Amino acid sequence: MKSQDIRKAYLQFFESKNHLIVPSAPIVLKDDPTLMFNNSGMAQFKEYFLGNGTPKSSRIADTQKCLRVSGKHNDLEDVGFDTYHHTMFEMLGNWSFGDYFKKEALAWAWEFLTEVLKLDKDRLYVSVFEGNPSENVPFDQEAFDIWKQYVPEDRIILGNKKDNFWEMGDQGPCGPCSEIHIDLRTDAERAAVSGRSLVNADHPQVVEIWNNVFMEFNRKADGSLEKLPAQHVDTGMGFERLCMAMQNVTSNYDTDVFTPLIAKIEQITRLKYTSNEVKNISEEQNKINIAIRVIVDHARAVAFAIADGQLPSNTGAGYVIRRILRRAIRYGFTFLDTKEPFIYKLVEVLAHQMGEFFPEIKSQQNLVTNVIREEEASFLRTLEQGLQLLDKVVAETSGKEVSGAKVFELYDTFGFPKDLTALILKEKGYSYNEEDFEAELQKQKARSRAASEV
Ligand code: SER
Repeated sequence: MKSQDIRKAYLQFFESKNHLIVPSAPIVLKDDPTLMFNNSGMAQFKEYFLGNGTPKSSRIADTQKCLRVSGKHNDLEDVGFDTYHHTMFEMLGNWSFGDYFKKEALAWAWEFLTEVLKLDKDRLYVSVFEGNPSENVPFDQEAFDIWKQYVPEDRIILGNKKDNFWEMGDQGPCGPCSEIHIDLRTDAERAAVSGRSLVNADHPQVVEIWNNVFMEFNRKADGSLEKLPAQHVDTGMGFERLCMAMQNVTSNYDTDVFTPLIAKIEQITRLKYTSNEVKNISEEQNKINIAIRVIVDHARAVAFAIADGQLPSNTGAGYVIRRILRRAIRYGFTFLDTKEPFIYKLVEVLAHQMGEFFPEIKSQQNLVTNVIREEEASFLRTLEQGLQLLDKVVAETSGKEVSGAKVFELYDTFGFPKDLTALILKEKGYSYNEEDFEAELQKQKARSRAASEV
């Protein structure tokens, strides 16, 4: 099944359960001081959970563009190195605002996965919250009993607060959750090691696909929990992971969400990406694969953020976007030998592929293309010089820790984000002194304050 059809099937299913289908909210949040980007489907509905407004319908479903690159949910450094984390991803979600609760949410999730999509029940595991006495939240007996109607008991896993109590951020609506995991390993692998033991163990083929959150609390600024005025449901399913399961592949990057973008990079660089099914690849090929994954992932994140109005800049959300793009440029520069702007060429592919569902990427295609091309050109100009300087710094360093002042100089003079420098240093087996970096940064801030007061 093609990714476009999987998305449609989900929305049609929840439409048939009387949900109002709404468009994705923009990826960038302009009016929530606790969050820079939409990091989950529920962010746009936060006020309804808190009881501060009334939604158009008590049942809503959509697919939400999410970005997890800052704050509590931050996957940036994993991206490219594994096959199932992303900066930007789509989250399919259905919501009940004081309407249905656990019984319907779990029954529909099971129906959609096993009857509509016909995923193999034997590959699915579910989890429920084990409870947390110190916060006075009990074991979720109700969810456990509901699951027992559909799933053998040995496939129901009890999870702790980290895995089974979902929170939006340090503050905000939250509650116990029940996740659905899928085991995509081969039959032989499944016979040898039980999937149950691999749930929540960072196995790339035993992954969470759907989270059903039962919103009952609000986490307040002082850390305490207060009961919300009503009980709600907030579900989120990782679209790219679902596509992986449906397309019988073992990497999100081998689904048709990513393959057109990868094909474009192959065409531009004349290098080859190898799918996750190809084993025993060379170290060099592995580096090429990582770089290509980084670039296709980051291109999507940056393109959608710009289409939604967030230009790269030197502060706040704009700086996050700039950093993501620079990470992609640097991977291309070092591992794909791309010395000219090229990432902007992926925008056309993206617009073609996703424009039907996300019209903003089509309507903003020219702007997005131009902004990315300009950013690439300007960062490439400094990248070469900066990398040479970094090599020199490393050569002059005795021991394995580079001075924070040098890392600051790279940041200040060449616009190298410190996490980019840290990453390059890590690859070379070095670290840097964070305290010295901060001290230099503070000194510079004091200098510019003094200058602006003159
Ligand atoms: N808010 C939950 C999550 O992001 C479910 O949508 O996982």
